[in-house]
Amino acid sequence: MALLELDGVSACYGKVEAIKGLTLRVGEGEIVTLLGANGAGKSTTLRTVSGLIKSSSGDIRFGQSSLADLSAEAIVRLGVAHVPEGRRVFPGLSVFENIALGSSNRKTTRAERALEVRRMFEVFPEIEPFANALGWTLSGGQQQMVAIARGLMARPRLLLLDEPSLGLAPMVVQQVYRVISDIRRQGTTVLLVEQNAHMALSVADRGYVLETGRLVIEGRPEELWSNDEVRLAYLGGRKT
Ligand SMILES: Nc1ncnc2c1ncn2[C@@H]1O[C@H](COP(=O)(O)OP(=O)(O)OP(=O)(O)O)[C@@H](O)[C@H]1O
Ligand SMILES: [Mg+2]
Repeated sequence: MALLELDGVSACYGKVEAIKGLTLRVGEGEIVTLLGANGAGKSTTLRTVSGLIKSSSGDIRFGQSSLADLSAEAIVRLGVAHVPEGRRVFPGLSVFENIALGSSNRKTTRAERALEVRRMFEVFPEIEPFANALGWTLSGGQQQMVAIARGLMARPRLLLLDEPSLGLAPMVVQQVYRVISDIRRQGTTVLLVEQNAHMALSVADRGYVLETGRLVIEGRPEELWSNDEVRLAYLGGRKT
């Protein structure tokens, strides 16, 4: 069953149409990746799903709901969490507070929140020692973990992840991807945007390749890799 379906969705910034009639689906429990060069429309697609920008045409369905007319807050409440590009931690809040904020879409007590943040530290043990440190004092990789932990605190049915590996050391990228696999194992559906096609396709069930706002091809990882034209043009050229 499709959890998320985009049907002919377009979205603009002023006069610039950044995505053009995009049709895609994400099944319940899948990891689906959106690939493509700079400016292809990957982040715009995630922003349109999470309601940060409004589609100019087409329909977006999440389960039984149409998202096109809902506010970003209403979409979060339905169970969609968006971890945007760049490490968006609140620099003046502690790591603990940054993560706890992710649960603001649900009614929780202070004690429940504290317990849930502790559980996030089990997922990301590297950031536990910094629980009381201010956001800005963390390294880029640590901030990325805080941002993902905050997204998970929403207990989303669908997690939108925008370039989780950007600028991270290879070891940290491995770690973040291990967490993405774990998240799915626990039943969360993931729509993953990446420029690192190799990493993304190593965990994804299916991938979509975008070019200047349009869908070029869709397929399973092995199908995308085995298509010489696609591999050379969009996936960084190498086979592995
Ligand atoms: N805030 C904005 N205002 C105006 N144009 C924008 C804005 N954000 C993106 N665009 C334009 O929309 C198009 C798609 O951008 P988008 O950020 O979705 O691409 P992307 O695939 O995420 O690229 P990248 O890999 O560089 O993050 C680009 O042409 C970009 O210049
Ligand atoms: Mg982007």
